[in-house]
Amino acid sequence: MDAPWWQTAVIYQIYPRSFADADGDGVGDLEGVRRRLDHLVWLGIDAIWLSPFFRSPMADFGYDVSDYCDVDPVFGTLDDFDRLLADAHDRGIKVLIDWVPNHSSDQHPWFIESRSSRGNPKRDWYVWRDSGPDGGPPNNWRRAFTGEARWERDPETGETRRVPVPPDPEADTAAWTWDEGTGQWYLHLFLPEQPDLSWDEPAVVDAMHDVLRFWLDRGVDGIRADVIHAIGKDPELRDDPPEQAALPHATTNDHPRTHELLRDLRSLFDSYPGDRMVVGEVYLLDTAKVAEYYGSGDELHLSFNFPPLYTRWRADAWRRRIEEVAAHVDPVGGWPTWVLSNHDNARHRTRYGTEARARAATLLLLTLRGTPFVYAGEELGLEDAVIPGGSAVDPGGRDGCRAPIPWTADPGHGWGPDPWLPFPPDAGIRSAAVQQDDPASVLHLYRRALAARRGSPALRLGTLELLPSAPGTLAWRRALDDDQRVVAVSFSDDVADLGVEGDWSVEVASDRDGSESGAEAPATIEPDTALLLRPA
Ligand code: GLC
Repeated sequence: MDAPWWQTAVIYQIYPRSFADADGDGVGDLEGVRRRLDHLVWLGIDAIWLSPFFRSPMADFGYDVSDYCDVDPVFGTLDDFDRLLADAHDRGIKVLIDWVPNHSSDQHPWFIESRSSRGNPKRDWYVWRDSGPDGGPPNNWRRAFTGEARWERDPETGETRRVPVPPDPEADTAAWTWDEGTGQWYLHLFLPEQPDLSWDEPAVVDAMHDVLRFWLDRGVDGIRADVIHAIGKDPELRDDPPEQAALPHATTNDHPRTHELLRDLRSLFDSYPGDRMVVGEVYLLDTAKVAEYYGSGDELHLSFNFPPLYTRWRADAWRRRIEEVAAHVDPVGGWPTWVLSNHDNARHRTRYGTEARARAATLLLLTLRGTPFVYAGEELGLEDAVIPGGSAVDPGGRDGCRAPIPWTADPGHGWGPDPWLPFPPDAGIRSAAVQQDDPASVLHLYRRALAARRGSPALRLGTLELLPSAPGTLAWRRALDDDQRVVAVSFSDDVADLGVEGDWSVEVASDRDGSESGAEAPATIEPDTALLLRPA
């Protein structure tokens, strides 16, 4: 089986502020991550992706970088990073870092220079323009984080859904900020503190490639490239069409220039030994478009595909998502990815509304064809924290999913006295320590599912064929050579026929404690559960 590691790996996302706090200041740090590596080994993941830990004024909690080649003191030092990387590698865990190429912080020395005068040599490193014809911003692009959506619970289904919110007509939603000093506007698809770099400037390409070399030379195995679809922009900066004008431009920017830039990026990665890889955040909610970012094997190695993350807990909706991936990603030779939770969205335990569904989703995530991403804390079945009114800290309303991970049952949960965000609900009983002792816990379910995946070439690399299944359920077969598995997921409120042909035994059931392994496959499937079956 000659596949690169990133096709068979399960990648675990760590949001460093919220993972583990070694120095007791209430904010997680790199040394905290290092001390928890054995937990990850026990769990059975293959790689970690660290969200940004670089120097940052933290307007967007690290996605506003003021020095791409140093560690922010709140997270530790470069030596801490090197120790973490070495210890991860000693344990066979690959390490991805988060590269933020679309924008820097407004406190980055590059922007400080760029802003200092129109004639500054770094002026063109950012996107500066004169006013539009009406004296306002140069075009109608909207920035992100202007209240385009909120999460709302549907009392009928128990699901929490993202509901669009029309922008406040009074609010300044422009992706442009006027600079008094030099009398021009600068572009920022996110906060005004996150000016967009201009990838039309060759010196920017060189500088950002140097950043990658800095980390690749240190030994990182790959990068997650933040909003990578946004780096290439329309050189004429034309207005967004009316039907897109209410959306943040960062969710619609899709210009051919990005593909050229990605081919250069790929060459850089290919010049390194050892299967270094790039997973891109392509935040276009359209799988056909996402698939284009694989190029013909000469752009991204992997791309996030977010439509499934916004899909309700329904069989028909999930069938469509699985079919879309097969229809668009496979034909371009791309390898799919699956993700249910991350640091930008309500956790899927919160979205789906019940623990049973979140448990069933574990087998869904870990048995589809492609590379799964697990967001730290989902293996504990964590819900989003409730953020008391007035104490939100994130400009994008994403605090809930960034609550600190509870490691121990005691009230401190392994953190310093005043963590930067409140803990998630039931933090004591959800803590890693408590769940580790309970084979029926969500944590042990993840561990069993990950072990099953590791033990089955079909689950890691095999084909996926959807099988006929009862209404409200889905079933698929994974196959590679003579290895086979069948997965059934019920999204239904009723018991349904399992109806899988042949002789199968249970390998993992989402509602059990492991003692089910080896039992004969049942004739029916319980509501909101999933079964992983192997040949009897
Ligand atoms: C990506 C990140 C998000 C960040 C934004 C701007 O979407 O996932 O957390 O706020 O980019 O960098």
